[in-house]
Amino acid sequence: MSPADTAAEAFGGERGRAPDVVWSAPGRVNLIGEHTDYNDGFVLPIALPHRIAVAASRRDDGLLTAATLGDDGVLHRTELGAIAELAPGSIRGWGAYPAGVAWALREQGVEVTGADLVIAGDVPAGAGLSSSHALECAVALALLDLAGRPADGPDAPPLADVARWVQISENDFVGAPTGLLDQTASLRCTESHALFFDVRTGELEQIPFDTAAADLELLVIDTQAKHSHSESGYGERRQGCEHAAELLGVKALRDISVADLDGALAVLPNELRPLVRHVVTENERVISTVSELDAGQLASIGPLLTASHVSMRDDYRISCLELDVAVDAALESGALGARMTGGGFGGSAIALVRARDRESIGRAVLDAFAEQKLTAPRLFTATPAAGAGRDR
Ligand code: GLA
Repeated sequence: MSPADTAAEAFGGERGRAPDVVWSAPGRVNLIGEHTDYNDGFVLPIALPHRIAVAASRRDDGLLTAATLGDDGVLHRTELGAIAELAPGSIRGWGAYPAGVAWALREQGVEVTGADLVIAGDVPAGAGLSSSHALECAVALALLDLAGRPADGPDAPPLADVARWVQISENDFVGAPTGLLDQTASLRCTESHALFFDVRTGELEQIPFDTAAADLELLVIDTQAKHSHSESGYGERRQGCEHAAELLGVKALRDISVADLDGALAVLPNELRPLVRHVVTENERVISTVSELDAGQLASIGPLLTASHVSMRDDYRISCLELDVAVDAALESGALGARMTGGGFGGSAIALVRARDRESIGRAVLDAFAEQKLTAPRLFTATPAAGAGRDR
């Protein structure tokens, strides 16, 4: 059963009637372009087939309730109170995600009505595959629909605005200082394509990404190592980048080109140099990846993916043992390229592999984890799926 059907059925069980609307949004993997989004740079994600669905109905009393179907099949309920009284810090735990979206939409002038939400999905949580953003995007679209402004209707707000509102919810309500990559991927990706997103200009380009036609597969390795952006060094990295941009007299590190890099590094304090080197070279790698894909040279992006990992491991310092074991084992057993994806400090890696090597590389990765006595990773092959949309 699809997450949308599961959510609708759970809603029926909970409320004794069908939901007014069901919207769903996917998780993502970022092919390349990591920690570039909050530096006004470039990213290149694909949407996963895994989705979070939100079945929702309007309430006339202004209250917001949410229930989420756990892996155990049990519905976990939370009362979020009156939408008009939501404020940053007022809700803790997973309820902060739906509540934050309701709060942010309201702050932006959307007339958010009271609502009952029932959430179900299959995006692995805590795997760096953006399950929280999938949830937030699906909630945003469901609440907009209940407010009479469905994303597929004449009074729809631009999706770029919805992405920004979800970011406001994440930054100011949930308290995670994340950029625009995940929401944009979840809302704007399309099937069979990677999404080239220029965060500064807002320009989007759908880049064909057909692994099957090239006899390739994109292997996702969920290391099961848990990360948390708010508690991890994500915010520190971001501040470091903003500080470096200030010292360099530019709006964001996006403004430093590879040709400017040596000069820029020379005037920066030691501790900021590796951060800047990562961001500047990573933006360049995104552009090179897009050129290879445009030229139909899918296999040629492998070395760029690997170089991105090395840069995140050695310069940005956001990898960890599990991610390095996954990447090294994939490369040593024949992957064309591999890198960690997402915020880092755990989560998932991706490896671009020849279809005929998929099994042996998967086995080599599992063996490497077993050898290091690490929890076995979860492996699956990703093909670019559709972005968020209405299910009913
Ligand atoms: C997380 C954040 C994104 C982005 C990535 C790193 O996924 O939510 O905004 O910064 O990390 O590229």
